[in-house]
Amino acid sequence: MVDEILRLKRERGAVILAHNYQLPEVQDVADFVGDSLELSIKAAEVGAKLIVFCGVDFMAEQAAVINDSATVLHPDPDARCPMAAMISVDDIRRARKLFPRAPVVIYVNSPAVVKAEADYVVTSANAVDVVKALESDVVIFGPDRHLAEYVAEKTGKIVVPVPPNGHCPVHIRFRADEVRILKSLYRDAVFIAHPECPAEIRSLAGFVGSTSQMIRFVKGCDSCRQVIVGTEIGIIHRLAKENPDKVFIPASTSAICTDMKRITLEKVYRSLRDGVYRVEVPREIAERVKRAIENTFRVLGREPPWLRR
Ligand code: 13P
Ligand code: SF4
Repeated sequence: MVDEILRLKRERGAVILAHNYQLPEVQDVADFVGDSLELSIKAAEVGAKLIVFCGVDFMAEQAAVINDSATVLHPDPDARCPMAAMISVDDIRRARKLFPRAPVVIYVNSPAVVKAEADYVVTSANAVDVVKALESDVVIFGPDRHLAEYVAEKTGKIVVPVPPNGHCPVHIRFRADEVRILKSLYRDAVFIAHPECPAEIRSLAGFVGSTSQMIRFVKGCDSCRQVIVGTEIGIIHRLAKENPDKVFIPASTSAICTDMKRITLEKVYRSLRDGVYRVEVPREIAERVKRAIENTFRVLGREPPWLRR
């Protein structure tokens, strides 16, 4: 299967992008594995005409928005992020009416039609920096209320969560008492957590960041011999591969995103063989999303990757 995928990939001139939560064997056939921000940038930078995106719906959609000259294939369109489905266009429009002067900052984990309503589109890697850089002291933020809370903690601003209870069903599974038990069993371990975790869990962590920020943190931390991992367990494949001398303990063995796991090698193969399933975003929506992403890069003092060439 792997040989066939690599053969078809060469034949079609395709590039495979995969998220850090993908199944180990899928990560291993990918040309690039990363977090949402890195994958968005990679999607813009790859010269390939064909991108096979191994991740959930909003990520494949984001790649199609960013690189409109490539065909983006999603091996299983049923791999959908439940958090992204928790926010609607009406939620944003209602919030704008209530807080007319507050900028709308939308987490990348949302559908393109929702991002098209945003002033800024952020990922967990840059949400704090973006909100910090905005002039306004009040921002509307959706759909993850835990990330909204984290951004408020870090910036001291008022962050209005829209909808009020948007969340990741995987990251709310961690239990503070279980994390405390693990910390007492592994006394020298560092606990790392994703900002989608509730505040009680984040407060126990020695490091909070996006998936790739966690990977960089662990790599750069010589004293981190044991790491308790507070995010989806798919990340442990890469952590272990890149740090063979360190031990990784999942904070919860049930922290599994079943949607991420829908992408299998067989589906990647079929995607390349049959050219399925093509991700299409209406041009008008894509243009509006792109503008919101450009605003994000500019507020951070960077050039959007598609304007860099
Ligand atoms: P990252 O951008 O940190 O990889 O997170 C994406 C995600 O879906 C987390 O659940
Ligand atoms: Fe969505 Fe959570 Fe899965 Fe990330 S881990 S894709 S936020 S359901």
